[in-house]
Amino acid sequence: MTHKADEKTGERVEELRALIRHHDRLYYELDAPEISDAEYDRLFRELTELEVRFGLATPDSPTQRVGGEPLEGFSTVAHAVPMMSLDNVASEEELRDFDRRVHERLDKEAGGADYGPVDYVTEPKVDGLAVELIYEERVLSVAATRGDGITGEDVTHNVRTIRTVPLALTGADAPLLLEVRGEVYLRKRDFARLNEQRDQRGEPPFANPRNAAAGSIRQLDPKIAAARPLAVFCYGVGRVEGFEFETQSQALAKLQEWGLPVNPLRQKCSTIEEVAARYRELLEAREKLPYEVDGLVVKVDRLDLQQRLGATTRFPRWAVAFKFPAHLARTRVKEIRVQVGRTGALTPVAILEPVQVAGVTVTRATLHNEDEVKRKDIREGDTVLIERAGDVIPKVVRVITEEREGTETCFEMPQACPVCNAAAERTPDEVVSRCPNISCPARVKETIVHFASRSGLDIEGLGDKVVTKLLDEGFIRDPADLFSLGERRAEMAGLAGFGERSVDNLLGAIERGKKTTLARFVYSLGIRHVGLRIAQVLALRFKTPEELRKAVELQDAALVPERERLEDIPEVGPKIAKSLTLFFGDRKNSDLFDSLVEELEVEAPKEAEPSSGIAGRVFVFTGRLESMTREEAQELVRAKGGRVG
Ligand code: IVH
Repeated sequence: MTHKADEKTGERVEELRALIRHHDRLYYELDAPEISDAEYDRLFRELTELEVRFGLATPDSPTQRVGGEPLEGFSTVAHAVPMMSLDNVASEEELRDFDRRVHERLDKEAGGADYGPVDYVTEPKVDGLAVELIYEERVLSVAATRGDGITGEDVTHNVRTIRTVPLALTGADAPLLLEVRGEVYLRKRDFARLNEQRDQRGEPPFANPRNAAAGSIRQLDPKIAAARPLAVFCYGVGRVEGFEFETQSQALAKLQEWGLPVNPLRQKCSTIEEVAARYRELLEAREKLPYEVDGLVVKVDRLDLQQRLGATTRFPRWAVAFKFPAHLARTRVKEIRVQVGRTGALTPVAILEPVQVAGVTVTRATLHNEDEVKRKDIREGDTVLIERAGDVIPKVVRVITEEREGTETCFEMPQACPVCNAAAERTPDEVVSRCPNISCPARVKETIVHFASRSGLDIEGLGDKVVTKLLDEGFIRDPADLFSLGERRAEMAGLAGFGERSVDNLLGAIERGKKTTLARFVYSLGIRHVGLRIAQVLALRFKTPEELRKAVELQDAALVPERERLEDIPEVGPKIAKSLTLFFGDRKNSDLFDSLVEELEVEAPKEAEPSSGIAGRVFVFTGRLESMTREEAQELVRAKGGRVG
């Protein structure tokens, strides 16, 4: 039951919302937090409590960002104005060439007439993922990824969870339609914290903040995005109705006035030499910035000149990205080891003498595969140049061959799996060698870790270390064994490093993992080429594990009517279809599948929301509504796929 709020409560709620927005901005945009995380949480809790108690929640409250229900798939959004990317320059000389081209083209365009000054705006090129936010009637209605520039994916559910993205624009002159472009990114510190958490859960780290941001924004479950501290900087506009911008710098200032986050490090420059100086300044400051910046974006300020300059098929002629050099360091390869992955892939990894690159200690670099090692001729004992492009896992750029002493040893890909000794296989069309033994302890371990991972059955606490221990001590041999661990609770609790409490937590998490969706289950099996997306496609198509299995077996028997061939399912294709038949054709896998189906409670995918008669239609609200505010009603219509006029 909700209570009636008095005036003071209403004021406090408003005050808390303003405070939270203020602190979000201090943290994400200005990098100058004034309160601790705990104090922030306190404000947030107080607001949530008041809203719940007095029924005061509004759609634009900071508390309303935490995600709703997961989606079954993304729908696509067409960009009204294509989202282009930028041409690069790599030196001051190339930057001056760009400036020269701009002037030459404008001269030609103007045919001798004076076109006035050409100022530039410079902005840090933040390394993240481009998105478009659409505000209709000043309310955030759609957010989409850049995609191929023409159409992107609808990620509104996730973008709504980003704290500094206003759910509604403020300011009397905010336009009725505004399409804003910006970059979704993760701050370095938040990125490091996210990877620490993943490590604790036994999940693989994200390679760099860009991948982490992209992975988060492309999650079907908005709760996952909400749990990641994403941020945005807006840097441009698409379609606008109800406002005329004259310059890029004015547009950025206006976006900020209307409540959108804009990078405070933008700067207007009146000559290309000033731009070059700004580049050097920013490069100097790069390491100290709280987010990854990979260059300086330079744009002609006046929009009329931008229009005159136009674009090639790929890039605008009025802007360019002046890229920063990669983060490089020199170190020595102590040893080349071979790791065995879940699919049996044997990956050579360089173990390095620890070295600092861009503020991080690097101790290993992936060498990808045998051919890559040969091509770069990387030997044990070599001095190498490594690059970390904001990446956690660095690459070897090249060997410094001048420093060879003759004692270096060439790498030979082992002919046998380094863990189980099975003869390694390499098919002519592949670059990787594989351990073919599906019972190889290394593969089994990775398979179980994958099975329990966040996108799989999501069994908390069942990461690399715990799985290794359970395997070593003979408690499990395959994923199905996890579900009979309860019978050996006392024995497990006696193991060093476990203890009653952690065993109970683990058993509880395993129990909770039993209740899952078909998509998660299919993904968790680790079938080659069947990632999250394909697992979802298969789940939607077949609805139950039994139906999926039947469909795959039918293929095998070549009894399938044309229309039901797996490979004809959009997005599946022959490669994945073959991988599925190979998987189920293996007796061990198919037995495992059966025992898992028996243990698990696999939920059928929800049908796409039955068309409520609202989807696609336009609704106009006027006057006062009885049971909700106008904004709430509009939200509701949008949530059901309708449009608000
Ligand atoms: S302007 C037509 N400004 O860099 C103008 N892009 O290669 C297109 N980016 O896809 C983009 N910061 O993801 C622009 N201040 C900024 C940017 C920026 C980062 C990204 C963006 C874009 C890519 C261009």
